[in-house]
Amino acid sequence: MKNKTQMILLAGGKGERFGGELPKQFVKIAGRTVIEHTIDQIEKSEFIDSMIIVINGKFYDYMNDLLLKNHFRKVKNVVIGGKTRQESSYMGICACDEDTDKILFHDAIRPFVSGKILEDVVKALDSYDAVDVAIECADTIVQIDDKRIIDNIPKRKYLRRGQTPQGFRKSVIEEAYRRYFADGSLEVTDDCGIVREYDLADIYVVDGSEQNIKLTYQEDIYLADKLFQIRSVRGNTQNERGQDIYCALKAKVGVIIGAGGGIGADIQRLLEKHGCTAYGFSRKSGCDINHYEQIEAVLKQVYEKEHRIDYVINTAGELRIGKLESISAEEIDGLIGVDYGGAVKVTKASLPYLRQTKGSLLLFASSSYTRGRAMYSVYSSAKAAIVNFTQAVAEEMAEEGVRVNVINPERTDTPMRRKNFGKEDPATLLSSSVVAEAAIEAVSANYTGQVIDVRRDRGVRK
Ligand code: CTP
Ligand code: MG
Repeated sequence: MKNKTQMILLAGGKGERFGGELPKQFVKIAGRTVIEHTIDQIEKSEFIDSMIIVINGKFYDYMNDLLLKNHFRKVKNVVIGGKTRQESSYMGICACDEDTDKILFHDAIRPFVSGKILEDVVKALDSYDAVDVAIECADTIVQIDDKRIIDNIPKRKYLRRGQTPQGFRKSVIEEAYRRYFADGSLEVTDDCGIVREYDLADIYVVDGSEQNIKLTYQEDIYLADKLFQIRSVRGNTQNERGQDIYCALKAKVGVIIGAGGGIGADIQRLLEKHGCTAYGFSRKSGCDINHYEQIEAVLKQVYEKEHRIDYVINTAGELRIGKLESISAEEIDGLIGVDYGGAVKVTKASLPYLRQTKGSLLLFASSSYTRGRAMYSVYSSAKAAIVNFTQAVAEEMAEEGVRVNVINPERTDTPMRRKNFGKEDPATLLSSSVVAEAAIEAVSANYTGQVIDVRRDRGVRK
């Protein structure tokens, strides 16, 4: 019986508009190539049985190396594409299995395709022979003629912007391509365009999402980076795969520095509550992060007992509000020492252990890092430095499999904040345990070099 759903992942393009040494599908976001993120999304969907990747011949070995590094279950085949997108699509169709019923095409450079979109397309194929994905138009679209005179202003409610995946019954898309190649003169930009031209089926449109962007130009990487961070903090105690975030940490050993109170104490409490092994240290328990040897000593102590350290979280920080002129030079040294120097020292001391376990390091920034703020210039600039430092060390350690990320919480209800800002409306603050949970989720995630924003709603735009 024909009942399989196969995904043809199109990665045969050169990315000319994007430029750069490697085609855009191999650019790294969050420590992994774009195509790895896209494959991950498809792997997660229970509605897709298997995947065929279409690639430019020059990158065949590169692609296979990537596949070897990962343990994707659904990738069946890597085939060489053609000069045009249509030729690449066709090569994919030819590689499909006999018992395939539904075929989806997806641009490898749309890594934010959601499980919902994949599900909606596959389900819609039960009722329709062809399905497209599109989003509403915010702008008014005008159609012009060759003299640049407006010819038509179509009603906006009927306009959509096309995305991928696009899905078809196998027989329909095979027939579409048979006619397309026989014809030879048809100009289209996607697979639905061919089916429509030959009027082979009604093409039903399901909703895409604003986040399902296609990387086309260099600037798109900045947006992709940001979207990735927003996705990273989704959900509460369940991560995107719906797994318990503590589950992955049960067999692991963690060290939390700055666990004397606030977010650090919450992280330790939550980990212990869920049966995870976590050692917390603070100035009170003999780990002052101004002193490298004290950090080394506590890590050694944990290692001698457990024979492994899988992740280290540094939450220690100091906030002192006041204009720069009102802070003494000595106090400035102290603040820089804790807020910046301390994070650097914790990182250096942790790396030898994390290298052994291909572990994870997590530092803390603050939302003030993106823009310096009056009254805490030293603190906010130290946090900006930590973000820069995280990105640098993440790159240095990527080959070793060590992940380095930084959490960027919005204003959080902690004792340190209360001391500095007095009583504030709790509704305007993040709770410390929500930030702690985001941190716990971040240590087991597979990305690196990321600034993970934690916002009050922890929500994302659909
Ligand atoms: N594609 C393909 N084979 C081709 C051309 C394009 O598989 N001969 C794929 C691309 O890899 C991409 C998708 O089709 O996943 C959408 O194409 P586009 O954004 O145009 O990517 P590129 O063709 O790579 O970029 P450019 O047009 O800027 O060169
Ligand atoms: Mg192209």
